[in-house]
Amino acid sequence: MDSSNIIVENLEFELLFSEAEIQQRIGELAEVISQDYKGKVPIFVGVLNGAILFLADLIRELSIECEIDFIKISSYGDKRISSGQITMIKDFSADLHGRDIIVVEDIVDSGLSVSYLKKRIESMKPASQKFVSLLIKKECAVVPLKIDYVGFEIENKFVIGYGLDLAQKKRNLNAIYQIKEN
Ligand code: IMP
Ligand code: MG
Repeated sequence: MDSSNIIVENLEFELLFSEAEIQQRIGELAEVISQDYKGKVPIFVGVLNGAILFLADLIRELSIECEIDFIKISSYGDKRISSGQITMIKDFSADLHGRDIIVVEDIVDSGLSVSYLKKRIESMKPASQKFVSLLIKKECAVVPLKIDYVGFEIENKFVIGYGLDLAQKKRNLNAIYQIKEN
């Protein structure tokens, strides 16, 4: 059972998506992606650190062949508000040229990370590129962009768990919790 309220660094969080809800939605996304990429072998690029749990669960539900790679960028530092500045910490290892790329994100907030990655990937001349994000903060996008596969649309509130951190902690929760604002 997921406990419904937790306290982290004196902040109160309430349950937003349970482990079962997350896993159910990932199964649905994997089915659609497997259909769309039938006969292809896409490279799933996880955006470190947040996307690791989502990527690990998503690829195990696929019915197609796939490869994985990782990229690490930073926009948040250890704060709860985006710095607006993207720093590349670890670049792609795979050769993306001529390949079908699916970038795997934990959450899209301002959209700055995604638009940065789009340009970076474009320069590597892939056959195609798409984005899958478990969460999207709809109202928050400052950059107009299209996320091809979305798990859940959420309010513009800070969330933790299932890969998402508060100052690097709480990524290892099975459920997702949203900050409670009184
Ligand atoms: P964007 O560039 O503003 O879209 O930010 C995307 C990145 O910021 C995500 O990949 C997360 O790592 C982080 N982020 C955005 N919102 C949250 C949140 O509510 N909780 C934890 N991390 C977040
Ligand atoms: Mg991230």
